[in-house]
Amino acid sequence: MQLNDTLFNGSRAILFVWKMPKLSVRNVSKSFFNGEQGVTEVLDGISFEIEEGEFVCLLGPSGCGKTTLLKTIAGLLEADEGEITIDGMVVKRGKSDVGYIFQQESLFPWLTVRQNIEFGLKIKGVAKNQIEDRLEHILRLVDLHEYQNNLPHEISGGQARRAEMARSLVTSPEILISDEALSNLDAQTRNHLQDEILRIWENTGSTILFVTHNVDEAVYTADRILVMSNIPAKIIAEFDVNLQRPRERTDSEFIEYRRKILEILKVEQQKAMERIEKGEHQFSVL
Ligand SMILES: Nc1ncnc2c1ncn2[C@@H]1O[C@H](COP(=O)(O)OP(=O)(O)OP(=O)(O)O)[C@@H](O)[C@H]1O
Ligand SMILES: [Mg+2]
Repeated sequence: MQLNDTLFNGSRAILFVWKMPKLSVRNVSKSFFNGEQGVTEVLDGISFEIEEGEFVCLLGPSGCGKTTLLKTIAGLLEADEGEITIDGMVVKRGKSDVGYIFQQESLFPWLTVRQNIEFGLKIKGVAKNQIEDRLEHILRLVDLHEYQNNLPHEISGGQARRAEMARSLVTSPEILISDEALSNLDAQTRNHLQDEILRIWENTGSTILFVTHNVDEAVYTADRILVMSNIPAKIIAEFDVNLQRPRERTDSEFIEYRRKILEILKVEQQKAMERIEKGEHQFSVL
């Protein structure tokens, strides 16, 4: 939590203004029970905060619990310990105002792009007279107006990810969380969509928590990067990316951020491999 204090002239009174973080994750732990195989301790006292309008990327080795953490923030899973708040309100299972772009493609194949996005609005119970305006606005924002009547198999992978982003953004969630939204795309489309996401973020002022495996993507987009360890996962490093946008991937400072982060990830990935080789295979038997 950030503390701003103002001292009034001629007065002894000090006014403390508590600037509430948009998202606060405090000491969150989560394990999974896997029957006879035992228990997997996935999250181990994860703590961080995100300010309103910040773009934060979360990096970590495969299987370290990134999706588990996002699902907990989204109220799809319950933490065993700790607390998550959005605008100071405690997140409970089934109760969290986030827009979620899932790791797997999640458009309904039998609905058009427009109907998929409309679905999000209907679920939220948005008044009928607002639906048309919101749809028009978001379809233009993500540059899909021309493809609104296409079915998901009639658009490209990049357009499908944009449609998912639109479906998440159209309800104006407090936070947009994205789980490897750009994986499975070719490098060129991926780079283009990173720019698109930054454009949408700048236009909407949204708060974004963005999970990626791609260090380059994190350094290109984020204000701040959080790095998770191998399981049981903690936040083991944090980087403020003090580079002006648009960023240049070939700049020496850019490359230096990437190098430092990759060094940390390499060690964590190695630990994950050692666990698997020792036969622990992500599980610690009870
Ligand atoms: N519902 C579940 N039941 C049991 N174990 C689970 C469940 N969901 C996840 N796990 C286990 O928790 C660990 C973390 O999984 P999670 O999907 O959160 O990792 P991740 O960091 O998102 O991985 P990736 O980078 O591959 O997407 C894994 O060992 C996984 O097997
Ligand atoms: Mg995942």
